[in-house]
Amino acid sequence: MARYSCESQSVALITLTNPPVNALSYAVRQGILAGLRKASADPAVKSVVLCGANGKFCAGAEISEFNSDPTRRLPMLVDIINLMEKSDKPVVAAIEGVALGGGLEVALGCHYRIAQCQAKVGLPEVTLGILPGAGGTQRLPRLVGVNAALDIITSGRHMLASEALKLGIVDEIVDSNTVEAAIALAKKAEGLPIGPRRICSKTVQCPDNLEAILDEATKKIKKQARGALSPLVCIQAVRMATQLPFSEGMKKERELFNTLVTSGQASALRYAFFAQRAVEKWTTPSGNWKTAVALPIHTAAVIGLGTMGRGITVSLVKAGIPVIALEDNQRQLDIGKKAVEALLGQVAQKLEPPENKNDSNLLSRVKYTLNFAELRDVDLVIEAVFEDMMLKKGVFRKLTAVCKPEAFLCTNTSGLDVDQIASVTTRPERVIGTHFFAPAHVMKLLEVVRGHRTSPQTIGTVMKLAKALNKIGVVVGNCPGFVGNRMLAPYSENACFLLEEGSQPEEVDRVLEEFGFAMGLFRVIDLSGLDVGWRSRREKGLTGPELPPGTPPRSRNGKRYCPIPDLLVENGRLGQKTGKGWYQYVKPGGRVSSPDPWIQDFLKSYRLTHNIKTRYIDQDEIIERCLYPLINEGFKILEEDIAAGPEDIDIIYIYGYGWPKHTGGPMYYAWTVGLPKVLSKLEKYSEAYPDVPSMKPSNLLRKLVSNGSPSPSQWRTVTRPSNSKL
Ligand code: CAA
Ligand code: NAI
Repeated sequence: MARYSCESQSVALITLTNPPVNALSYAVRQGILAGLRKASADPAVKSVVLCGANGKFCAGAEISEFNSDPTRRLPMLVDIINLMEKSDKPVVAAIEGVALGGGLEVALGCHYRIAQCQAKVGLPEVTLGILPGAGGTQRLPRLVGVNAALDIITSGRHMLASEALKLGIVDEIVDSNTVEAAIALAKKAEGLPIGPRRICSKTVQCPDNLEAILDEATKKIKKQARGALSPLVCIQAVRMATQLPFSEGMKKERELFNTLVTSGQASALRYAFFAQRAVEKWTTPSGNWKTAVALPIHTAAVIGLGTMGRGITVSLVKAGIPVIALEDNQRQLDIGKKAVEALLGQVAQKLEPPENKNDSNLLSRVKYTLNFAELRDVDLVIEAVFEDMMLKKGVFRKLTAVCKPEAFLCTNTSGLDVDQIASVTTRPERVIGTHFFAPAHVMKLLEVVRGHRTSPQTIGTVMKLAKALNKIGVVVGNCPGFVGNRMLAPYSENACFLLEEGSQPEEVDRVLEEFGFAMGLFRVIDLSGLDVGWRSRREKGLTGPELPPGTPPRSRNGKRYCPIPDLLVENGRLGQKTGKGWYQYVKPGGRVSSPDPWIQDFLKSYRLTHNIKTRYIDQDEIIERCLYPLINEGFKILEEDIAAGPEDIDIIYIYGYGWPKHTGGPMYYAWTVGLPKVLSKLEKYSEAYPDVPSMKPSNLLRKLVSNGSPSPSQWRTVTRPSNSKL
């Protein structure tokens, strides 16, 4: 709803009231409309101020209403904004907290905008698979020009009030008392001409190189948001603003909006929006966020300053948490320190003034040491040494001895048993897995691995820490590879089988990238290094000198095995770091890849040696054989209760593995493909490849299909897990 009151006699105040974020629900829209009509009819009212209750202007449309009954869509927001803009009494927006999406569109329909300096504004509709459909694509280019409007609308980014002021989106910023300042401004505006303040009456300043700008934006989107429809349609809408009069542009905007809002991508993105919020409300049988009181983390330590430790250190420092970084020897400490300082330098450059003036502030938050005794007072430790159980146990023994009893002990292991690590401590309830993703200061995901004895308070504290680090924490159970890496194994295994049977790495990658992955699988492996997987296979006894003599090259323990990745490592092809992997690079450490004729020859002779008949493998088969076993593993994970629900798996894949968000994540995607189809394909491949267990359909998938393939939100109700590990 919206509250109406009269301030200082001549100013009407309309307060949007729909906690927690004053989204523009049916009742709020009705309230604004009623308020505007009342103000218009009251001769004593000379101006209007629009604000939001509880320090939040408005976070835009009520997202859950997109699926609702069309009769409840009236009054339309777009009509309310038009009416407001036409008003002959000046309307001032008092922006506190957020003005996002429809919220900013409302503000753009006002004649003046004042923002509190911490407020954030933006048009994030694109992240929901739609476009700003209440005039945003037509008003913003008129206000800030084509370049800035394209950037804001196609990225969906939230910007601080200071940037909005520079761009001219807001007229004034204040430190506090925003509503009072807006009322004062409204009074000043009474009697001033309103015409020039109406954005709809402005013309778009068209740059000479408009076509080049639009082309450039299109290219950038196609590269950055592969397969996503809405950013491209947003560009079309901005183009309309440059070509058509306002009212015609608005009609086009509506047409384009209507197409997008009913698309599968928009549904998937809405699912992802709510899934992200659902996973943050983690729960386990022994407690949840409601009962667990998270403790504050004032100081932290990071053990091991390799690839991950550096990023984790930077992530903590960025969140204002001082870090003691510990290494094994002086040389590694010096190398790690240099790397952390370089990363912090980059972070400082991106900070808003005055924090970016010098980076010494950030640098001073890290202390480097070789001495465990220095960790005695820290609140939390994150271990990031080599992936070696003996080594990690040794580190946790030392930590138990030196850290205060209430300190939380976290491991960044990417798949080792958290319970085993906890078993060497005297405080297993305070031990937890914090699985960051590389680069750790950039990637949004934190897989939070709960051991059998981890306490709800430990989970709660780490989940709160995730939020402070600007990451999305997802609580999962403890099993080899947890959720993310466990699902990755069948994906990579089956992608390699495709190479044996006739595909090339670049063909598989092209199909995956066209599907929407930021990077194809083989490109990703080149980036992280082929030796990582090789070490883990060697640990498991699948390759390396310990392999018993006479082991068949393409089989392990009765299951199909592809030795190609091992052969590449043995040939020194470790990926980008050696300049050769699945692709070739101009030099070691190079980033630009090209298909390598060596790989083609190698695959040819490998197939000949093993007498493998090759055939053409089409796009559909590549997708099915790469992604369906990954999804199948996801169902097994749900069956074992390693993940609380499909939403958790989807968020892990979207934010940790570059899965295209506009498909909703692997489990939601499976549902949109049709669970019966996924099941029948897995059955087909399982029959064709009986020695590939990852193709054998999971029981949960079968149960869901026989229960009529309900939507992911209902999967839990269909079948309760029998052997819960969460
Ligand atoms: N509609 C419905 N619910 C919303 C909402 C919205 N626009 N924005 C936030 N919420 C809900 C969340 O689901 C969450 O609910 P629960 O507590 O029940 O889980 C609650 O508000 C708080 O949200 P967050 O947990 O995200 O809180 P936060 O403080 O971390 O972030 C925020 C606040 C920045 C506003 C963030 O919620 C956000 O980005 N919201 C979405 C903004 C957006 O995309 N707006 C565009 C909507 S589309 C549109 O506006 C188009 C149009 O007009 C035609
Ligand atoms: P790395 O090899 O880059 O770095 C490990 C660091 O630990 C080295 O600097 C080493 O000197 C240090 N170290 C070894 N023993 C030590 C000890 N006793 N005390 C202090 N420091 C010690 O390894 P990386 O890649 O950073 O991995 C670390 C952990 O993170 C592993 O468990 C790995 O599985 C996990 N991980 C790795 C990811 C990646 O992409 N590299 C992603 C997610 C998790």
